[in-house]
Amino acid sequence: MTAAIDAAGSRVGDVRAHDSAHMHVAGLAPYTDDLPETQGTAHAAIGFAPVASGRILALDLSRVRAHPGVLRVLTAEDIPGSNLHGIIVRDECLLAHENVSYWGQPLFLVVAETRVAARRAARLAKVETALLPAVVDATAARKKGMEAVPARVASSGDVINALAHASVVSTGCVDIGGQEHFYLEGQIAYALPAEDDRVVVHCATQHPSEVQQIVARTLGWPLGRVNVQCRRMGGAFGGKESQCYVFAALAALAAAALGRPVKLRPDRDDDFMITGKRHDFRIGWQVAVDDAGRITAASFDHLVRCGWSADYSGAVADRAVFHATNAYFVPHFHCTSFRARTHTQSATAFRGFGGPQGVLGMEAAMQDLALKLGIDALDLRKRNLLAQGERARLHYGFVLEDNVLPALVDRLEQDCGYRARRRAVEAFNGGSRWIRRGLALVPAVFGVGFGATCLNQAGALVQIYVDGTVSVNHGGTEMGQGLHTKIAQIVSHELGLRAGDVFVTATDTAKVPNTVSTAASSGADLNGMAAFNAARDLRQRLARVAAALWNCTPAEVWFAHGRARCGGRGMAFAELCGHAFAMQVSLSATGYYRVPKVAYDFDTFKGRPFYYYTYGAACSEVSIDVLTGELQVERVDILQDVGRSLNPALDRGQVEGGFVQGMGWLTTEELAWRDDGYLLTHAPQTYKIPTSRDVPADFRVAFFENENAEDTVHRSKAIGEPPLQLAVSVWLAIWDAVASTGGHAKAPALRAPATPEAILDALESIR
Ligand code: MTE
Ligand code: MOS
Repeated sequence: MTAAIDAAGSRVGDVRAHDSAHMHVAGLAPYTDDLPETQGTAHAAIGFAPVASGRILALDLSRVRAHPGVLRVLTAEDIPGSNLHGIIVRDECLLAHENVSYWGQPLFLVVAETRVAARRAARLAKVETALLPAVVDATAARKKGMEAVPARVASSGDVINALAHASVVSTGCVDIGGQEHFYLEGQIAYALPAEDDRVVVHCATQHPSEVQQIVARTLGWPLGRVNVQCRRMGGAFGGKESQCYVFAALAALAAAALGRPVKLRPDRDDDFMITGKRHDFRIGWQVAVDDAGRITAASFDHLVRCGWSADYSGAVADRAVFHATNAYFVPHFHCTSFRARTHTQSATAFRGFGGPQGVLGMEAAMQDLALKLGIDALDLRKRNLLAQGERARLHYGFVLEDNVLPALVDRLEQDCGYRARRRAVEAFNGGSRWIRRGLALVPAVFGVGFGATCLNQAGALVQIYVDGTVSVNHGGTEMGQGLHTKIAQIVSHELGLRAGDVFVTATDTAKVPNTVSTAASSGADLNGMAAFNAARDLRQRLARVAAALWNCTPAEVWFAHGRARCGGRGMAFAELCGHAFAMQVSLSATGYYRVPKVAYDFDTFKGRPFYYYTYGAACSEVSIDVLTGELQVERVDILQDVGRSLNPALDRGQVEGGFVQGMGWLTTEELAWRDDGYLLTHAPQTYKIPTSRDVPADFRVAFFENENAEDTVHRSKAIGEPPLQLAVSVWLAIWDAVASTGGHAKAPALRAPATPEAILDALESIR
C-alpha cells in the first residue's frame, strides 16, 4: 500500500494520498493528546464565568482547593508576566479579573493529579458578581455604540445618484448565522518544563509563533526560552488561529508554577463555551439595475457580531467588504461595516474569513432582483459577471487580469445541464404540491493571501542526510488539509527524489522562526515556495559537486528517479550526498519567500489586497418538504479553479470538505444564545454538523484547467477556503424552492441557516 502510493507520487501534480492517511485510518497518527505523557504530568481545567457581564465582587476558591487531588489553583494574580493579550489589539485578559465580559470567560485554572479531579473541582468555585446588563444582540450593541473595532466605510463612485436613477432596486436584509468550528480534535495544550527555566509546549495551533509569543509574555520570559511544536491537528478551520493561545498559555503558566508537565484539554462543551465562532452577520442591501438588467449600484450595511474582544474581527469584516459584490461588476459601491462588541465569545477566523458572509449578502440581492425582473437568476448573474477590461474592476479599484469567470460559468452551465434541469424543476413543481424543487448556479471569486501585507511571508529548512533522505521543516501547520504532503512533493520534485525519501517534521518554533499563521488558504503558496527555494539551493550545490566529479558544468547535471545524471554518467542521489559530505559541502539550507506586488491602503480601501484570485462556480439542486421544512440536497456540480494542481486528490478533498462544511453552516448548524448571554447550543446534542449522510447523493467535482497567471509555486492556486463559498448555492436553491410555492411572485424572507424552522418561516412569509 505505502509502496504503491510512494511510487505514484513523487512529483508535483501527482495524485498522492495524504502522507498520514494510512495512520489516520488506523488510528495511529498521534495528535497532541496521544503524545506519551511524561512522568508527573498534572492535568488542568478552566473555571469560567457563570454570567455574561458583571463586576467580580468575590472569587471564593476554597472548595476548589480542598477537592481531593487538586495541586494548585491559579488566578490572574499568579501570572508573572502579562495577563493582557489579544491578536492585533491587546484587549483580552487571559484570566478575567475585575470584570466579566462573556459567559464562559476563563477566571481561574485548577491543576490536579487527574483530569477528572481538575474538572470536578473547577465547578466548586463561588463567584460573586454585580450583574451588569448583558448585550448579546448586535443590533442592540450598535444602538449603544459598542464597537469591538472601529466601524469602516468603503465607497467608490456615486451610489446615491445611481440608486436614484435605477430602473429596479432591490432592498432587503438577511440574517446570517455564525458557525462553531467543531474540529474533531478539540483545543489542547501540553506544556513541559525544561532545564534552566524553559518550556516546551505541544499545542493544537495554526500559529505556533503567536503561541510562543503569548506564552513568553505570560511568563515574562524571552522568546528563546519557549518552544512550541505541533505535528498535526484534527481539524482547525480557523478556530486554532488565535484562540488556541488561551490553552497554551494557561498550560505553560501551570507548568512553570508547579515545575511539572501540565496538560489542558477542555471538554467539548467547555470548548464551545470558551472559544469564539464564525461571525454572524446581518446584511442589509440596496442593489440597483438598469433596463438591461445590469447592476448600476450596490449599497450594503454589514452588521457584524464580534463578541467581547477584537481578535481577528477587523480583518474578517474587511474581507466581507472585499467580497461584498462577489463575482459581479458594480460601478457604484458603498458599504458600512459595523463591528459590534457583545457579551459573547469572541468571534474569530473561520474558513472563508468573512468572505462567505459577504457573498451571501450579494447573492440574496441577486435572487430578489431576478424575481423582480422576471428572469432566470443565472441570466442575471451572467449579465453582471466580472468580465474583461473595465468590467473586470472590483469595487476597491483592482482590475482582475486573469479573470476566467465567464468561460468557467458557461462551462458549468453546459456540464451540469442547467437549462434542461431548470425546465425539469419547473415541470416537477407544477405537479407536486408538498415537495418542491429549487435550483441555483452561482459563481464565486476568492482573493488569496493575508489582507495585512507583511504576513505574506514564510520560511523553510531543508536538510539532506548522507543516505540521500531529506528532512523538511517549514512554518506551516498540518490540520488535515495535506500541506505537508504537498510540500514533500515540491521538495522531492525539485531534487528528483522518490516520495518516500522526503520527511516533513512537526512544525517547531525552534526550527523555523517568526512564522505566520497557516491561514488565508496560503499555506502551500507561502511555505511551498520557501521550501522550493531551499531545495533549489541544495540542488545547485549538489550539481556543483557532481560537475566537479564528472568534469562537466553544473547546468548539465540533472536529478530524477533518485539519481543524478550528466550525459552518460550517473550515480545514486545518496552516493552524491556522500561525496558532498567528503568535499565539505553543506547539505542544509533555509528558504525564504515573500509575496510580491501586494500593497493595500486600508484607510481608502484602495489598492491590491491579494496577490491573485481563484474562481469557481457551483450548481445545487434541492428539494424541500413544504409540510415539515425538511431539506434534501439532490445534486451538486462544482467547477473550481485550482491553478495547476499540486495534488489533485488533496485538492478534490478540499473542495468536497469545504463545500459540505459550508452546507452545514447554511442548513443545520444553528447557534443560539439566551438573552442573558448563555450559549444554549454547546454540544452535539443541540448543534448539528453535517455527517457522511448529508453529503449530496450526486456530487460532481471538476477542476477548471487554468495555470496561475502569477508566479506561484508551480503555478498552483490555493484551495482551502474558496469552495466553502460555493455552498451559498444550496441556500439559494432553497430560496428558489420556497419562492416556487408562491409562483415566484414574492421574495421569501429566508434566513441562514435554512433549518426546517427557517424554511417553514420563509414559506409563511410569502403566503
Ligand atoms: N482542511 C482540513 N482537513 N482541516 C482544516 O482544519 N482548514 C481550512 C482549510 N482546509 C482546514 C482544511 C482553512 S480555514 C484554511 S485557511 C486552510 O485549510 C489552511 O491550510 P492551507 O493554507 O494549507 O490551505
Ligand atoms: Mo483559515 S479561516 O484562514 O484558518
